[in-house]
Amino acid sequence: MTTTTNDVTSRVLTAPDSLVGASLAGWLAAGGGTGLRRALDDRAGIIGLIERAGLRGLGGAGFPTHRKWAAVAAEPGPEKVVICNGNEDEPGTFKDRVLLGRTPHQVIEGALIAALAVGARRVVMYVNPHLTEAIEAVGEAVRQWRAHALLAALETALGGPVLLELRPSSGRYIGGEETAVVASVEGGFPFPRRKPPYPAQSGVHGLPTLINNAETLANVPHILRHGAAWFRALGRGEAAGTKLFSLSGDVQRPGLYELPMGATLAELIFDCGGGMLMGREFKAVFTGGPSNTLLSRDDLDVALDFESVRARGSRLGTGAMIVVSEGTSIPRKVTEFVEFFAEGSCGQCPPCKTGTYQLATLLRRIDTGHATRADLEQVRQLCGLLPGSGRCGLIDGAITVVASSLERFGAEYERMLIGG
Ligand code: NAI
Repeated sequence: MTTTTNDVTSRVLTAPDSLVGASLAGWLAAGGGTGLRRALDDRAGIIGLIERAGLRGLGGAGFPTHRKWAAVAAEPGPEKVVICNGNEDEPGTFKDRVLLGRTPHQVIEGALIAALAVGARRVVMYVNPHLTEAIEAVGEAVRQWRAHALLAALETALGGPVLLELRPSSGRYIGGEETAVVASVEGGFPFPRRKPPYPAQSGVHGLPTLINNAETLANVPHILRHGAAWFRALGRGEAAGTKLFSLSGDVQRPGLYELPMGATLAELIFDCGGGMLMGREFKAVFTGGPSNTLLSRDDLDVALDFESVRARGSRLGTGAMIVVSEGTSIPRKVTEFVEFFAEGSCGQCPPCKTGTYQLATLLRRIDTGHATRADLEQVRQLCGLLPGSGRCGLIDGAITVVASSLERFGAEYERMLIGG
């Protein structure tokens, strides 16, 4: 896998100084620990700093990080939990495994700063066991932090022992949904629950629980160390910071690239990815993993930040960019994604379990040339009926990718029908 061959100046999380591996001594020698020390010096100022920096949730939703932190901090009582979500399993997304595997300390330091900000004495590194490099590195990193004076300083500030632990997830896709994370950490099957209440109010065993994605937390020590203005200036225009993009599909150099938030899709595909494979023509990108939507040729100039991508009717999501070339069947790719969702559905909500299965069956029929116009009409009806029918977003993700592909590539589906 290519990792970050783009301009070093735009790199923070994947800069050589950050990619120091699982050695805490190496991380501290590269300037790690400064962020946590600054946080300890000005605990009351942490959330305001994160707000001024403009940090957003980088697991896909882009929710303002300071609002989630403030919500947990505002809850009464000393018993709170911070969870780093490292379950990463969205097809096409491979950023957190690199962070957790090659630079676990910046993520852990971010989680410890978050714990200080919200007043939590339990910090859980929740990692997908299929990400073997990540789980080994985090386990080793956690052992080193437990023995370090900085953790003792955090305990003093929080008024008691801090439990920093590694918890392997179930390894299932659904186990990354935040309420399923809560259920997992409680020791149960990762069944999602309805929101609200958000975990910020009622999470693990009913305790206020802050759940942040690994990439979000990785930014935190750097913001504490270098300041809000520095972080904002890393992004383009109104966008703040950098973003990790998992670039895959029909490009010359697939890999993980860190770019300024707001860099364009063309820069990612052509400058970083080296352009299309063997002179193939660009057709589309499945953005943010398949639970988001498509961008097509007219969108190559789009700035890759949450608002700009949304303005094109798509989503930035996790920053996964699965590039497909002319000649690739969109209905076939979408069918594969929906089959993935059907398999990943936990089965609690019948419309999700049966809906994803039914959609996958209809789409496979279209893809293999066995479908009639009535089948396609049924797909469209399901896209109208099913959203919001599950307690988590899985069914909505499946529908989004189907609806988005029908909107942009509807003619391709039509051509595949019997007599089409
Ligand atoms: P969401 O929009 O429901 O919530 C975003 C975050 O904001 C959550 O942590 C939620 O608890 C918090 N929040 C919202 N309102 C709040 C309030 N009033 N008080 C406190 N906290 C509040 O989105 P969700 O379902 O958490 O994530 C959806 C995204 O996840 C999608 O964009 C998708 O791309 C991404 N995703 C990522 C995967 C991965 O492997 N990284 C896998 C699957 C989906």
